[in-house]
Amino acid sequence: MTAERARITVFDTTLRDGEQSPGCSMNRPEKLRLAHQLDRLGVDVIEAGFPIASDGDFEAVKAIASVVRRPIIAGLARACAPDIERAWEALKNAAHPRIHVFLATSDIHLQYKLRITREQCLAQAREAIRLAKSLCADVEFSPEDATRTDPDFLCSVLEAVVEAGATTLNIPDTVGYTVPTEFGALITTIRQRVKGIENVVISAHCHNDLGMAVANALAAVAAGARQVECTINGIGERAGNASLEEIVMAMRVRPDKFAYETGIVGEQIFPASQMLSEITGVPVQPNKAITGRNAFAHEAGIHQDGVLKNPLTYEIMTPQSVGVPDSRLVLGKHSGRHALGIRCEQLGYQFDRHALDDIYRRFVRLADKIKKVEDHHLLELIRDTHKPRGSATPLIDPIPSAKASSANTPVGNMPPPEPSKPFQPPQTQAFGVPVPAHSDPQHEQTQQEDYLWGV
Ligand code: KIV
Ligand code: ZN
Repeated sequence: MTAERARITVFDTTLRDGEQSPGCSMNRPEKLRLAHQLDRLGVDVIEAGFPIASDGDFEAVKAIASVVRRPIIAGLARACAPDIERAWEALKNAAHPRIHVFLATSDIHLQYKLRITREQCLAQAREAIRLAKSLCADVEFSPEDATRTDPDFLCSVLEAVVEAGATTLNIPDTVGYTVPTEFGALITTIRQRVKGIENVVISAHCHNDLGMAVANALAAVAAGARQVECTINGIGERAGNASLEEIVMAMRVRPDKFAYETGIVGEQIFPASQMLSEITGVPVQPNKAITGRNAFAHEAGIHQDGVLKNPLTYEIMTPQSVGVPDSRLVLGKHSGRHALGIRCEQLGYQFDRHALDDIYRRFVRLADKIKKVEDHHLLELIRDTHKPRGSATPLIDPIPSAKASSANTPVGNMPPPEPSKPFQPPQTQAFGVPVPAHSDPQHEQTQQEDYLWGV
C-alpha cells in the first residue's frame, strides 16, 4: 500500500523573477511561447510578469492571461493602488487570475528603502490586500526579505493580510540568506503563530545566493509549505531562484525523503530548458543538475562500461524521464573500449576484438591531443586504420608495434599497476536487484576484460 502524498503547487516565476536575471528579458511573443511550454510542462501557476513595470510587460501578461487557460496566471504588484489596478487590468480575462502583492517587512528595507515604520508597513499591507481582494478572489501576499524580518513582526503582518483576504502567504528568502534548518523552523513558527493560517497556502520563494535555494525550498515543504516558487534552469535575480527541475526531480528520485507529488510532466523539463536558453541566448551551465548538457554524459571508461551494462550503475534517473533524448557517452581519453565499440556500431562499423584494439590505441592517442573525440574524428580514424598503407595522410602518427603493445602501460610518474586480482562480480546491482547469474566461463572472462578495459 502506498502512502498518500501531499500535492505541491508549482508556481513558476521564470517569466517574472527569472526575467530579472541579466540578459534574460523577453518580449511578448517570446513570453507567450514559453508560457505555452510551461503549460505543457504542467506548472500550476505561471507568474507572467509585473504589469506596472512596462507597457510591454503589461501586454505580455494580458496576452498570456487570455490564451493560456489551464494554469493560474499571476501578475506581480507592489502594495499600492496603481500597481494592483494595473495588474488586475492585465489579468482580468484570465480563466484563473491571481494578484501577487509584495511589501518588504525587514527593518533594513523599511528604514533604508521604504522609509516607513513597522506600523505603516502593517497598515499598507492590509490596505493593499483589501484592494486586491475586492478585484480578484485569488490573492497572494509576499513579505519581501522575510528571512531577515523580526519573526514577531512578520507574524503580525501575515495575520493582518490573512484577515484582509490573502489566500496564499509566500515567504521569500529574497537575498538567499537562510539555511534549510532555519527556514524550516520559520515555516513552523508561522504555522504555529499566525491566526487563520490553516485556511491559506504557505509558499516558499528561495534565492540561490549561497547555493541553497533548492534545499531551503525542500525544507519549507517538509515543514508544511504547499507551494514552491521556482524557475526553469534556476534563472532569476542575482544568483537565481530555486530551480524547478531540481525540486521536482528531488521529489521523484527520493520519494523516501520527500513524499510529495507535483503535476509536472517530467518529459517536458528538458524541452522547456532548451526553449528558455534558445529564447534568452543564455546557455545552460554544462554541469547544471538535470538540464545541463553533461547531466547525463559519461566520459570515464569505468562509468561508460557500467552505464552500458546497466544505467542504474551511474544514473539515478533516466534521461528520458526528464525529456533528454539519450544519455550521451562522451568519447575522451578516459573512455574505454566498450563505449568506443558501441559508438563505432552506432556509426555503422562493427569490429572484432583485435580490430577494435587497434582502433582503440589510435583513439587514445588522438583523445590525448584533442580532448573530445567527435563522430567525424572517429570516422576519419576508422577509415585511416583500415585504408591501404601509405595511401593518405594519417590523422595521427602510426603506432610502432612495440609501443602499440604497451599503449596502456603507465607513463611518467604514474605508479605501476596493482597486480591484477581475480575479478569479483557484484552480487547485486544498484537498488539491490540481483545480478543475473552467468555460468559461462567465456562470458565471465569477457565481463572481467570489459571491466578492466573500461579504465
Ligand atoms: O525575492 C523576492 O522577495 C521576490 C518577491 C517579489 C516575491 O521576488
Ligand atoms: Zn525573488
